[in-house]
Amino acid sequence: MPRIANLYFKTAIIFLILGIAIGLHMSIAGDHSATGAHAHANLLGWVTMAIFGGYHALNPQKAARRLAMVQYAVYTFGVAVLIPSLYLMLSGNAAMEPIVAISSLIAFAGVLLFAVIIFSSGEPAVTTATSAAR
Ligand code: HEM
Repeated sequence: MPRIANLYFKTAIIFLILGIAIGLHMSIAGDHSATGAHAHANLLGWVTMAIFGGYHALNPQKAARRLAMVQYAVYTFGVAVLIPSLYLMLSGNAAMEPIVAISSLIAFAGVLLFAVIIFSSGEPAVTTATSAAR
């Protein structure tokens, strides 16, 4: 499996553990106010990251590109800041709102970068340079 795919699955499982922990905490406490943080940890974290990892596993040439690692760093940073700040905001800390807003935009930038990866050609960069030189 390409390194980036493995990295995405490792990161995804951490978000699933975190998302389920928030869900169990909400259930036990009988307070569902953090539902948004729970749902986003599971969906932006576990589900979306596993899909990104699966895409890279199926496209090893794209997975080897520098853009794949840049996209991983941007998206993961956005989600990793979004989840705790959203949790704190929904738990009553209104000062977290700007951090939630900025981290949401960073996560969205990561999604747009993944769109660039999907729509780019699957040819390896070396082959493209070689063909251009011909
Ligand atoms: C043991 C595991 C889980 C527990 C204990 C749990 C618990 C909860 C609780 C207590 C709520 C709030 C319900 C409400 O107030 O209406 C909730 C909502 C939600 N959960 Fe989970 N959850 C679990 C796993 C998951 C997983 C794996 C996902 C997604 C992959 C997920 C996605 C959602 C979503 C999207 C909502 C929002 C539903 C809505 O607002 O209509 N949950 N969960």
